[in-house]
Amino acid sequence: MSATPRIPVPQHLGDPVPMTLPRLAEKKRLGEPIVMVTAYDFPSAEVAQQAGVDVVLVGDSGAMTVLGYPSTVPVSTDEMLMLASAVRRGLKTPLLVGDLPFGSYEASDEQAIATAQRFVKEAGCDAVKLERGGTSVQRARAIVDAGIPVMGHVGLTPQTATALGGYRAQGRTAHRALSVARDAIALQDAGCFSIVFEAIPAAVSEVVCEHIEVPVIGIGAGPATDGQVLVFHDLLGIYEGHAPRFAKRYGELKALMVAGVAEYADEVRSGAFPAPEHTYSIDEPELAEFRAALDRDLQ
Ligand code: KIV
Repeated sequence: MSATPRIPVPQHLGDPVPMTLPRLAEKKRLGEPIVMVTAYDFPSAEVAQQAGVDVVLVGDSGAMTVLGYPSTVPVSTDEMLMLASAVRRGLKTPLLVGDLPFGSYEASDEQAIATAQRFVKEAGCDAVKLERGGTSVQRARAIVDAGIPVMGHVGLTPQTATALGGYRAQGRTAHRALSVARDAIALQDAGCFSIVFEAIPAAVSEVVCEHIEVPVIGIGAGPATDGQVLVFHDLLGIYEGHAPRFAKRYGELKALMVAGVAEYADEVRSGAFPAPEHTYSIDEPELAEFRAALDRDLQ
């Protein structure tokens, strides 16, 4: 395991043209699937950039995947801003969306605008995302009116999962499906440039999409949406917490990471690391002079 694995790097090193809201809308119009992924730090942003995704979300899922909280609820605005700023530094062309954390936008339009402004001013986000319909619709409208693009999020909204009965699929009865549809349409009417559909039946998603003109990004919402989003740590197998059925794994990086660090630990303990090629040299006369000088100093 000491040799660096030779993993082919995709040839496309990111779209050279920055993603904009009109380009995103055009993708929907042309039926070109939109690729969105979450990122929480500089390296994951560079990965997203080099892999050529369209949209990067600094999701509050980072509360669990990188900060170790048991849910998305405890993460603060300052913590999200630190993650988003790091992502900004690693990203050039994808659209960068920052997730407004629980408790940072619900109380009033003023609170929502002030928090959204921090994501744009302090972290360099292009847009923000908020969860739910209901009162969030008015908050979305207020932020849009303040000049900041907003992405909505309906279906399973983890910030309020307790009120939804837990982390479970939404819209599985006619009544609940209607409520998802109403939320999505209200968010669109409020000016959201895009909406995330999370954990709703594919057939419900297909029907609702017929009534939505802005790009819909699905996660556990079937193939009818205009794009898909996955959580970085789920798709690469870095996070070992509960994985929903829609979280397809494209890698098992955690196992690779543990194996790498374990081998390093073994080599330190056995003395195999560091080897001569990992050390710096000094010319023999310089070393002799240094020894003599040190001896004189210490007399
Ligand atoms: O926080 C997050 O990662 C999200 C996505 C699942 C859409 O909201």
